[in-house]
Amino acid sequence: MNKSLTEIKTICCIGAGYVGGPTMAVIADRCPKIQVTVVDLNESRIAAWNDQNLNNLPVYEPGLDQVVNRARGRNLHFSTEVDESIAAADMVFISVNTPTKTKGLGSGQASDLRWVEACARQVALCAQGHTIVVEKSTLPVRTAETVKAILQAAQQPQADNQPPKSFVVLSNPEFLAEGTAIKDLESPDRVLIGGEDANAIDALANIYSAWVPKEKILRTNLWSSELSKLSANAFLAQRISSINSVAALCEVTGADVNEVAKAIGTDSRIGPKFLNAGPGFGGSCFQKDILNLVYLCRYFGLPEVADYWQNVVTLNTWQQHRIARLVVKSLFGTVTGKRLALFGFAFKADTNDTREAPAIQIAKDLIEEGAQLAIHDPKVEAEQITNDLQLDASPPPDQASGPSKAALGGEGTWWPSTNISDAVRGADAVLILTEWQQFREIDWDKIAPLMRQPAWVFDARSVVDPSAVLGAGLKLWRVGDGAT
Ligand code: NAD
Ligand code: UGA
Repeated sequence: MNKSLTEIKTICCIGAGYVGGPTMAVIADRCPKIQVTVVDLNESRIAAWNDQNLNNLPVYEPGLDQVVNRARGRNLHFSTEVDESIAAADMVFISVNTPTKTKGLGSGQASDLRWVEACARQVALCAQGHTIVVEKSTLPVRTAETVKAILQAAQQPQADNQPPKSFVVLSNPEFLAEGTAIKDLESPDRVLIGGEDANAIDALANIYSAWVPKEKILRTNLWSSELSKLSANAFLAQRISSINSVAALCEVTGADVNEVAKAIGTDSRIGPKFLNAGPGFGGSCFQKDILNLVYLCRYFGLPEVADYWQNVVTLNTWQQHRIARLVVKSLFGTVTGKRLALFGFAFKADTNDTREAPAIQIAKDLIEEGAQLAIHDPKVEAEQITNDLQLDASPPPDQASGPSKAALGGEGTWWPSTNISDAVRGADAVLILTEWQQFREIDWDKIAPLMRQPAWVFDARSVVDPSAVLGAGLKLWRVGDGAT
């Protein structure tokens, strides 16, 4: 491709995950003249993206199946042929995982960039001619420096008379939220492009302008773009910790957090969004991105700033433990051998993703206390829950014979429950941790007689109708509701 050309004909996206798959599907859908190939080392993931049965796509997102159905095979391809796809591409997106480091320097805070570096090296090796490399993954500010350094080494004259290579690096972080990914991608609040090369920025902006209004395509320098992504997630998570802190205060003062949220959210300077109190934020990114911000602040000699953001995470963890503790306290101080129905394991509704879900910590705390958990989630597989809890499922207890030996011995267990009635049978409490629509529609008059009395509903998402729960003779705790 000529360096001054701004029309992209072929895209390769490395990483067919929650971001790479849906993002590229929407680009292919909206830009039928661009051939888009999403590559991944994970063969089973690619096979699932190619599955003829659209229910088997590896990511569950409302509307994704229709987008994939329109573009797949036409100009959207999923492949494990990483090298070939890079070689054929005018533009390569890097959309791989950037989890928190678990060992070594910066362990527990810094981002593990080994997959990003591997991609940069692979692009350096396989790209041909001029290639625009786009950071789509969320990255620590100044990562583009590393990517550029690796690519620049490949720009040196080639020993074997290969045609010269050249690269430009852009930052184009993704702001989609899971569960609304297609909506977010099709009508984003903004698209952010950071870079130094005007032609390359135009090339990427031209792609988005096929469906995004021009005024929503923001252009910044590389470092502002990288830092904006971390900051946006930190601000969003901070609002959740703020409202959860207020929720705790509401519970002891008789205030209602929903009323407080409405009252403060009507101030146009504050706004109504992201003020739902809950069991704490989950998801693969908020915690990891804030911890990364904390690490960067310390690295750049700003310990007070680091402490400020660290507290957003500290409060979130506290909220999860707090909910487990109050369940135990309400059930006469012990849950040992007691059956509890845990409704919702995904970190939010409309996704099968459980990464950092608050349900994981809360379930672990209750199992540690000896509880018997029937876990029900409309989209999360039992195998995933086993992995998250690092505990195999037990067989569901036999209703006739009462608590199992393990239960009587005080050992906490769990089992997957595919329906609500089975989950609540014999239970002392229902604990709602994800705001699935199904849980808003529960008929408590039908549920209450199946439970052991006195029975509780702990609604950590504020989804139930209090009068329906109380009217069914159940006790109720609702997050942030000081009146119940
Ligand atoms: P993911 O784990 O779902 O997907 C990443 C994929 O990259 C995996 O399938 C993995 O096999 C593949 N991969 C890793 N190294 C590879 C390599 N060298 N070659 C080929 N494939 C490789 O991750 P995700 O949720 O899509 O997140 C990707 C990035 O986007 C992260 O930086 C994340 O912070 C950011 N992000 C995520 C979301 C979200 O909602 N999940 C939203 C915005 C931004
Ligand atoms: C979040 C951001 O919203 C996206 O903009 C960003 O791109 C993404 O992280 C990312 O970088 O990965 P996501 O984690 O998918 O998206 O979902 P959110 O809707 O932000 O929810 C995150 C968590 O906060 C969930 O556990 C949710 O239940 C919780 N939450 C959200 C609340 O407890 N209260 C609220 O008011 C809103």
